[in-house]
Amino acid sequence: MNIGIDRISFHTSHYYVDLKTLAEVRSVEVNKYYVGIGQEKMGIPSPDEDVVTLAASAAYPLMQAGELDEVELLLFATESGIDQSKSAGVYVHGLLEMPARCRTVELKQACYSGTAGLQLAIAFVARNPGKKALVIASDIARYELGSPGEATQGCGSVAMLVSANPRLLAIEPESGYVTEDVMDFWRPNYRSEAFVDGKYSTMVYIHTLVESWKQYAELTGRLLSDFDRFCYHIPFTKMAEKAHQKLCRKFKVEADNATMYTLLDESLRYSRVTGNCYSGSMYVGLASLLETAAEDLSGKRVGFYSYGSGCVGEFFSGVVQPGYGDFLFADQHRNLLENRTELTYQQYEDIFNYGVPTDGGEYVFPQYKTGPFRFSGISQHKREYESLVD
Ligand code: CAA
Repeated sequence: MNIGIDRISFHTSHYYVDLKTLAEVRSVEVNKYYVGIGQEKMGIPSPDEDVVTLAASAAYPLMQAGELDEVELLLFATESGIDQSKSAGVYVHGLLEMPARCRTVELKQACYSGTAGLQLAIAFVARNPGKKALVIASDIARYELGSPGEATQGCGSVAMLVSANPRLLAIEPESGYVTEDVMDFWRPNYRSEAFVDGKYSTMVYIHTLVESWKQYAELTGRLLSDFDRFCYHIPFTKMAEKAHQKLCRKFKVEADNATMYTLLDESLRYSRVTGNCYSGSMYVGLASLLETAAEDLSGKRVGFYSYGSGCVGEFFSGVVQPGYGDFLFADQHRNLLENRTELTYQQYEDIFNYGVPTDGGEYVFPQYKTGPFRFSGISQHKREYESLVD
């Protein structure tokens, strides 16, 4: 029985900063961002948007299509959690009016947790083949103003329905995975921005990729040339390109520019304009690949490398299913990305500094343009959400 991703839907903020605006203010040559790190825009969440509203908005098209009725497991992956106790998934379950018979839990291991969710969901479906699982990876990437990481900020959420006989992508059973206790990127409970040892993090990303790939190759006997496309974790698009080049170099496979473009570029298009979505970013890459590829990808094998700082890495693979094109949300995603509002530098900084109050007071947040749900305020230490749809 094939098990894998049956539908995929993503959402990002309505607001973005073009990195040329940031480059001007920071007195940086713009091509450092556009070319050197490979990013054009970064999605900026408004004060009334958080990982819950991004997630519920991502999953909303699935609800509208009646796809959530058989879901009995909701796994919410994030490293931008909003509560130390209650899962952000429970809020989403409520906003989407999902059936009460559902296990809901939040998962955390930096950007890797979306993949942990996917693999756990596959195990659930293997045991309950008639049932479905909803995996949501939702994050807001936030670094200090003026820091090297600033240009790699972004936000977004990906909702994936996992089922038997999936219509999009069958996940193959073999995986290579590695855990190592390192401090490349972390966010203590008292901080709203991450600490990051940037250069070191890129080295650990690649080291873990090589170790994960070696395991995967040994288990499957496959070579890098057995893959038609790759989807990498995308903190910034240049990271994915560099990682693939290094992997090819290490295992003596040619990776000229044309080959690199074919193998990777389609998967990087959305991330170039959303920025890092942490736990969701590799799956934003998958949506981008499936929805923007000019070629029919039916039957093509895709290699995935998921990385979460701290760290855990995993290499696995999937095969695109025939007829997948009829089950994408490509038009909605194109509209979403094409109809966003550009922020000035001052608007960006004001939003960045807005900060969710922590003093237990009563707050009503200003209304910005969001998806179908918004974070409307706080009352008696409880977050309040508003549905903008009937
Ligand atoms: N034109 C073209 N390229 C230019 C340029 C110009 N005018 N100016 C500079 N560049 C190039 C540089 O040569 C460099 O290229 P190489 O990497 O090939 O050497 C590239 O632009 C970046 O320049 P710097 O190395 O000087 O950049 P930096 O040190 O200021 O910042 C960074 C880079 C450390 C990765 C920083 O963006 C950062 O800290 N990011 C956050 C951490 C991160 O994303 N880590 C990734 C791995 S960890 C992970 O994946 C988990 C996660 O999601 C966070």
